[in-house]
Amino acid sequence: MEHFLNSLPKAELHMHLEGSLEPELMFELARRNNIELPYDTVDQIRAAYNFGNLQDFLDLYYQGAAVLQTEQDFYDLTWAYLKQCETQNVIHTEPFFDPQTHTARGIDIGTVIRGIDQALQHGREQLGISSRLILCFLRHLSEDDAALTLEQALPYRQHFVAVGLDSSEAGHPPAKFQRVFDKARSLGLLTVAHAGEEGPPEYIWQALDLLQVARIDHGVRASEDPALIERLVREQTPLTVCPLSNVRLRVFDKMSDHNVLELLQQGLRITINSDDPAYFGGYMGENFLALHQGLSLTRAQAIQLSRNAFDSAFVSDDEKAALQ
Ligand code: ADE
Ligand code: ZN
Repeated sequence: MEHFLNSLPKAELHMHLEGSLEPELMFELARRNNIELPYDTVDQIRAAYNFGNLQDFLDLYYQGAAVLQTEQDFYDLTWAYLKQCETQNVIHTEPFFDPQTHTARGIDIGTVIRGIDQALQHGREQLGISSRLILCFLRHLSEDDAALTLEQALPYRQHFVAVGLDSSEAGHPPAKFQRVFDKARSLGLLTVAHAGEEGPPEYIWQALDLLQVARIDHGVRASEDPALIERLVREQTPLTVCPLSNVRLRVFDKMSDHNVLELLQQGLRITINSDDPAYFGGYMGENFLALHQGLSLTRAQAIQLSRNAFDSAFVSDDEKAALQ
């Protein structure tokens, strides 16, 4: 089964590039950029990855991202992720990046986007991995800050296809970002949003109605609202679910408690993703394997989950046909 899951052609639709920063690369970049880390060894970093909730994780994730400074750093980060994709037969990916995490430290958004884009281009040419980039706004910051970020990104408009919403969910509803999402859609960008990870089902309704998202990131708390489930099934809105993340951030106590296969059984368009693979114990292959071990995922279910991801990708029907 492990071999089957690893070799199954997969598409990833929910992965934060900053969350693919492995401790080894974090050390290398810290050395390269003369940055002092509050750890002496890679093992110490890994030992710190013991989170009580989303905010515990975000505090370390933003701290780790501070080693990313130059275009080459963003290239190396993205390239390392693509090499992981190659080993697990992830043939299409739509990674997120958080520009505000970097611009707040004085790094030009062009440095970030050019480094990432160059690696994605090499991934297409050298590894045969297709990709689309998604720019995420940090929801703990203001809508004005998000609007400024979108404006700063406009010279690089051709390098990303959608905007998303991430970071601390509770207390920061999608409604807070309605105008900046309106603006993004007027520019021809697609929209996605994290909703229903720690936040209530109401945030999923808002993401659908106010932000007009094409996919919901996480969305597992939809199970608390039968009317919402009915709508998600009817509209076949994709949910980008991240099983290892949800257990590591204590959305579910253990994998055997996860609702992902129940949601699939109810007819939702569920996809499987790694979220922040360097922090949560694995990439796509490990997420699928964890579902097999914790929830007895079958081959047929794995194939359905993989097909759902290709069907939900932000590519043309012709490109979808070529991928599958
Ligand atoms: N940023 C990176 N990972 C995230 C997650 N799981 N939820 C919200 N924001 C994030
Ligand atoms: Zn996420």
